Amino acid sequence: MAGMRAGILGTGSAVPERVLSNADLEKMVDTSDEWIVTRTGIKERRIAEAYEATSDYAVRASEKALQAAGVAAEEIDLVICATVTPDMMFPATACIIQDKLGATHAGAVDIESGCSGFLYGAAMAAAMVDAGMYRHVLVVAADLLSRITDYEDRSTCVLFGDGAGAAVIGPVPEGRGFLAFDLGSDGSGGEFLFMPAGGSRRPPSAETVAAREHFIKMQGQETFKFAVKAMASATESVLAKAGLDKDAIDLLVPHQANIRIIDAARKRFGLDESKVVITIDKYGNTSASSIPIALDEAIREGRAKVGDLAVLVGFGAGLTWGAAAVRL
Ligand code: ACO
Repeated sequence: MAGMRAGILGTGSAVPERVLSNADLEKMVDTSDEWIVTRTGIKERRIAEAYEATSDYAVRASEKALQAAGVAAEEIDLVICATVTPDMMFPATACIIQDKLGATHAGAVDIESGCSGFLYGAAMAAAMVDAGMYRHVLVVAADLLSRITDYEDRSTCVLFGDGAGAAVIGPVPEGRGFLAFDLGSDGSGGEFLFMPAGGSRRPPSAETVAAREHFIKMQGQETFKFAVKAMASATESVLAKAGLDKDAIDLLVPHQANIRIIDAARKRFGLDESKVVITIDKYGNTSASSIPIALDEAIREGRAKVGDLAVLVGFGAGLTWGAAAVRL
């Protein structure tokens, strides 16, 4: 096994049934369908039921990924869950997923890299498979951002949705697999996008609840500027590491935060619209799960084919960013 290149063996995704439309939001805050669509590209998003938790969607997405990969749960060596909305502070949501899947031979760990989480998880998984340490690593990104969204704050509540996406990473035939990763961070920008309370700095209290500090706080314009730069530089860097030119891209799978950020990246790399996967109109920003959900849909719709060169690229809280070049 040592020396075999890691690639994507199968993907899966799961989103809630319940739709929250722009018309619904018009009744909740001072906003309009026109503002939301023009500024973000979002028409609707999916919201989990009150009794559900992040792991419920993670398990559904993972089961589909295992099925697509033809890998049994017992064959998984490690579960990596990327989330900022774990079922609870501890134990790790990855352990809950491991148990529900029946992945009885797997280790389990959560990672927290904001919306870049799937890329961080995939990089770790690929390195472990490349090294011959593990054969099958399940990377599942899952978030119920609705749980930490302030539905009285119109500048953020229109953006976010719930969902999960998963990939089984393991050895693939010659000529396929991950060619390069680019991961980065700049913690000095942490306050552009964060949740102030609930951790050790500001533990939950009546005061933090009253101050609405258990919700996402975001400086939209600062995040926007950072995002446009990060998407471009991470894509350029991962292509350079893979020894490829931008013309080699068959499919760009970007984090779905804002259609204007995605369009800026598309134009910079001179890509036709047919080469960019867009799901933001129907799911909004689903955090770390947006990239694997988009990839899974592209594969299932036949838009992403075996042998295609896909670039996955994202950015998020941290600040963090990442990109992967993968021959599907
Ligand atoms: N409806 C109507 N008006 C609104 C709304 C709304 N939902 N939200 C804000 N506005 C108003 C503002 O109050 C402001 O009004 P003012 O001019 O009277 O002050 C006006 O619209 C313009 O606000 P801006 O913040 O300048 O709008 P902008 O064009 O920057 O769009 C947005 C805001 C969509 C948030 C944009 O900045 C953005 O997408 N930023 C990046 C966000 C992002 O990527 N976040 C996620 C990153 S990581 C993760 O995924 C978790």
